[in-house]
Amino acid sequence: MEETSLLCLLLLTTSCKPTQGRYEAHLTLSPSSSQFFQWSSLSLSCEEDDSSAGWTLRRNTTRETRTQCDDWGTSAGSSCNISYIVPSDSGVYWCESREGATSQSINITVSGGAVILQSPVLPVMEGENITLICRTQTSSDLPADFYKHGSLIIDRPTGHVTILHVSKADEGVYRCNIRGHGESPPSWISVTGRPTTTAPPTTAATPTDSAPPLQVFTVVRYLVVFCPYVISTVLMVSLYRHRPTGDGLPVSMATLPPTWAQKVLAEDCDEIAEVSTKMNDDA
Ligand SMILES: *[C@@H]1O[C@H](CO)[C@@H](O)[C@H](O)[C@H]1NC(C)=O
Ligand SMILES: *[C@@H]1O[C@H](CO)[C@@H](O)[C@H](O)[C@H]1NC(C)=O
Ligand SMILES: *[C@@H]1O[C@H](CO)[C@@H](O)[C@H](O)[C@H]1NC(C)=O
Repeated sequence: MEETSLLCLLLLTTSCKPTQGRYEAHLTLSPSSSQFFQWSSLSLSCEEDDSSAGWTLRRNTTRETRTQCDDWGTSAGSSCNISYIVPSDSGVYWCESREGATSQSINITVSGGAVILQSPVLPVMEGENITLICRTQTSSDLPADFYKHGSLIIDRPTGHVTILHVSKADEGVYRCNIRGHGESPPSWISVTGRPTTTAPPTTAATPTDSAPPLQVFTVVRYLVVFCPYVISTVLMVSLYRHRPTGDGLPVSMATLPPTWAQKVLAEDCDEIAEVSTKMNDDA
């Protein structure tokens, strides 16, 4: 098994390289929030690995589709500012390269009302802590009620709530209410599983980090996927090369007495049979 797994690991490392070399862009939003009051300003930016790919900001709103920053903001390179946002700027925003590659997308809601919910605009990693802030234009510490999927989850005297170690179960549509002021629009909070890559752990990682088992799982998955392929390729090649027909034999072998050639072939076939059963047992 050592040799086959070594071969598989070799294939694993080489097959990972094209993915790592792929250029990407990450969309950042400043200030980072899912909701804004109208007349505030915001700044979007495509942080790219390769600036020659020509990343630009695009958006879909209820009125327009795939429009570029120049149609609704001030662009400079791969970033884009909007000075005075209005409710019709609500929509989904993303970065797109000239070749049509896209970044992750974010939902932005601009409210003409008195209350907004400030929640993470980007998907949150499982295990991280998130803070939700319910606020008016002038204050972020009024008593507030927080709702998930329309049901009250908690009321807080100070207008903010922290959810510790989020899990997939915390994903959903959140909203808040400040008595006497009003209700915020809804926002979707998305929770993603931990990545299975060897990225360095973030500062938010907890001691119960589940990264090592996931990495082991990835390697095992690759082995399971690649080993049958490698074994069958090796078997097919060796069977083809030792094909017991006269055509493929070198001249010197073909002119040998038939009994000798037959003996050699028979031995080779036994060896192949032995190797293949061993390999099958291991796999
Ligand atoms: C934007 O709208 C177009 C057309 O409706 C759709 O194909 C595309 O998926 C949307 N993009 C995003 C990021 O939602
Ligand atoms: C966008 O705004 C940021 C900060 O508000 C500023 O540093 C940047 O120069 C602005 N970019 C453009 C294109 O106006
Ligand atoms: C944006 O909002 C829609 C519906 O509100 C939701 O289905 C979608 O997943 C959201 N996208 C992101 C990137 O949060």
